[in-house]
This record gives sequence, C-alpha cells and structure tokens, in this order.
Amino acid sequence: MPTTLPSTDLREEILALKKERNAVILAHNYQSGDIQDLADYVGDSLGLSYRAKETDADVIAFCGVHFMAETAKIVNPHKTVVLPDRDAGCSLEQSCPADELEGFLRENADRNYYVIAYINCSAGVKALSDVICTSGNAVRIVEAAPDDRPILFVPDQNLGEWVMSQTGREMDLWQGACYVHVEFTRESIARIKAQHPDAVVVAHPECTSAVRLLADEVCSTEKMVHFCRDTPAQNIIVVTESGMLHRLRKEAPGKNLIAGPTDRCACADCRYMKMNTLEKLYRCLRDLTPEIVMPEEIRRRAEAPILRMLELSR
Ligand code: 13P
Ligand code: SF4
Repeated sequence: MPTTLPSTDLREEILALKKERNAVILAHNYQSGDIQDLADYVGDSLGLSYRAKETDADVIAFCGVHFMAETAKIVNPHKTVVLPDRDAGCSLEQSCPADELEGFLRENADRNYYVIAYINCSAGVKALSDVICTSGNAVRIVEAAPDDRPILFVPDQNLGEWVMSQTGREMDLWQGACYVHVEFTRESIARIKAQHPDAVVVAHPECTSAVRLLADEVCSTEKMVHFCRDTPAQNIIVVTESGMLHRLRKEAPGKNLIAGPTDRCACADCRYMKMNTLEKLYRCLRDLTPEIVMPEEIRRRAEAPILRMLELSR
C-alpha cells in the first residue's frame, strides 16, 4: 500500500475515496473547519449517534474522538468504522476506567444504583450502565429515571451537577471532568463580559458551576447553534472548544462571536479533537484503519443503554 499522499487536491481525493468505499463522513462540531466542510453531517454527540444509527453506508469515517466512533460501532456491528487518529481520546473517558466503576458498583451493591453514563465514556463503562445520555438530552434522561433507585451519574461531575440543578434530582457524581472546559474561569469570562457589556454568554455544561452561573444559556454544542441564531443579541461570548466557532460562523453569520482576544479566553482547543487532519482522514479511508473493534460481549451489553437513550430522546 503506498504511503505517500496524492499530489492532487486532497479534498477531491477524499470525496472520490468516500464514493468508492460507500462511506459516510461524520464530524463533531469541534473538528477543524476543513474537516467540517467536507463532512456529510456535522453535529453534537446526540445528532451523530442518530446519524450513525441511521446510515446505510458501508463505512463510517468518524471525525471526532474515540468514544464517539466506538458508539457508532456499537450500534453498527456489521459496518466498518474508522477514526482518523486512534489516539484521539477524551479526558472524561480516561477519568472513569471500566474496572474502577465495576469495583465501585460491587462495593456498593446494596445501593442498587441506576447508572446513567454520559456518552463521553468507554464501551466498557457503557456496558455497566442502565442508560446513556449526552449533554443534549441529559435533563430528559435523568427525568425519566426510576424514582425508587439512587442514581449514579458518571463520569462528568460538572454536567451531573448542572443536571441536578435543572431537575432537582439528587445524584451521586463520579468525579471526572473535561480538561478543556474546567480551564475556563469565572474571572476570565467576567473580564470579557466587562469589555462587551451587551453580550450574552453561552457555555457548555462541562464548564464549572462558577462559569455556568455567568451564562445566559447552558447547552450542548448543537443547541448553541440554535441559541446563536435565535437570540436577538448581536454579541455572543462562546464558552467551549474552539472548533465550535467555525460551525457558528457558518450558521449564524450575522452574529459577532466573541472567543476572547486571542481566541483562547472563552474558547480553547481540545488536543484530542484536533488530532484528526484531512491527511489522516484520507489515509483512514484509503487503508480502512485505524478501525474500531471490540469484543462482541461488551458491544452487545453497551448497545442496550444506547438504544434506551435513543428511544427516550425521540
Ligand atoms: P456535545 O455532545 O455537546 O457536542 O459535547 C461533546 C463534547 O465532547 C463536549 O466536550
Ligand atoms: Fe473530551 Fe473535553 Fe475533548 Fe470533549 S472537549 S472530547 S469532553 S476532552
């Protein structure tokens, strides 16, 4: 297999390979602009899960992070799912290893926990869970939980805390966090707000409560698109990963999106999301590797809570 890249336009080569492979390119809102522009669908974790479930393509090239591609594989055991960079992980996934969760559940068996797992976790953690949620449907999933069992919410303590404030439901929270979103501070956002007093603030629920309290809207990345389009405000401070700005500039072109003077104060790069490149996308479509694979036993057990989530959030 040749290792050199084609000399003609890489975009054209990717599109030709996509056709040849009967592939679909799915991209998360945090991917770089050139990948977003080439994708068949760009969205948040929830939208991507639905798209992955519904596609009739033979190959899914998933431009996002590992747990997202893994979710696509779990619901599509007979399709080939590839991820441009196999090291594109997630700090939330890393904060909750499946064996630790299993040990915790064993030690606390008397609690009979109903386990709700944020989709940012491994297949092994999903396999131990009752239902999955994303930032786009977490409130709904928690509201639908049985009220005669205590809830354990894994792995994101910040999303969990936000959902508790929205639903009034008590939950035990795994102490995981997104390394990007916890970097934003109340001081840095307040400083930007002071420079733009008429601006509204939209923040991802993975931010800490100190930052969320400054926000006019706390929501998933896809809901940010709707918020920025619909708000009468002209100036919007966007507190999340920097890839979001590309999507928002396209979808809400009339709005002034404020990410801070260097694009780093209210928006920062996720190093995992940014591992994918057009070159790696080309190679993974050409070579069908890195491919997502997992033991069938884990896949089967992880599928049930994902399907429950998709059913509950229709
Ligand atoms: P969304 O589902 O809101 O796109 O969030 C995914 C994510 O990884 C946020 O850091
Ligand atoms: Fe994971 Fe945070 Fe990156 Fe999202 S932004 S993929 S939660 S590390």
